[in-house]
Amino acid sequence: MLASNATCRQRLTDFQQHERIDGWLQPAVVYAVDAVQRTHDELNITGALLEIGVHHGKFYLALDQCRRDTEAGYAMDLYEAGQKLNLDKSGRGSLAAFKGHLKRWSRDPSATQIVSGDSTRLAHTEFARSVPPVRLFSLDGGHTAAHAASDLRFAERVVTNGGVVFVDDIFNPEWPGVIEGVAAYLHTTPSLSPFAFVGNKLLMTTISMKPEILRRYSAHMGRSPGCKKTGMCFGDKAWFGHAVHTRKRG
Ligand SMILES: C[S@@+](CC[C@H](N)C(=O)[O-])C[C@H]1O[C@@H](n2cnc3c(N)ncnc32)[C@H](O)[C@@H]1O
Repeated sequence: MLASNATCRQRLTDFQQHERIDGWLQPAVVYAVDAVQRTHDELNITGALLEIGVHHGKFYLALDQCRRDTEAGYAMDLYEAGQKLNLDKSGRGSLAAFKGHLKRWSRDPSATQIVSGDSTRLAHTEFARSVPPVRLFSLDGGHTAAHAASDLRFAERVVTNGGVVFVDDIFNPEWPGVIEGVAAYLHTTPSLSPFAFVGNKLLMTTISMKPEILRRYSAHMGRSPGCKKTGMCFGDKAWFGHAVHTRKRG
């Protein structure tokens, strides 16, 4: 078993308490990152970290707290130069802001490769073919149905077996395109399967590893501080025929 549990949890706690980065990160999502890390440690799953849609780096840097020393990170956004392609204005990537936060919050900023451009195009370039297998993939770029579906297909190609994809704003009424794009993807023959909802995010993993990932993740979430305090954690439900773990907000 890999031994990054304690350090990841401690770093996440410090990050959560002290960061003041503009962006979106619900407390329950931090528990989920910790639960995913424990699951990956137990199963010896390794791989890179990749986010589409960095904005100022809030969620990227939460994930970076759990990136192991041997793992690379990829921070993809249109950033300032590409904002004319930011069709739905769901955020506004700033390379200047991100670089400042990366320097402050990453223990090794040089492990992160900044990738500037449109994810729907980058998915078909040499970059996508050369990226190593990814174990933590955050999908938070363009929020139209077409962007969400395209970014999921990108994730499907690069995620390692048992890797986890965090899809943002899945039930956000301001961004109905996300659930439409995910539904369109699920109606193909997908090799990524949903396994949990937490905060504003849907979590997906590879179909073969789904039962194992769901079982371990659920057990870790049941022991997370929010659950212990309120005793109001929900169990498994079904969504489009997929078993998913759900959890209350908070
Ligand atoms: C909601 S924000 C991301 C929030 C961020 N994940 C956080 O933790 O705060 C969406 C980001 O996606 C970027 N974006 C929009 N369309 C994109 C595209 N086609 N390719 C890459 N990035 C895109 C925007 O520039 C913006 O920074």
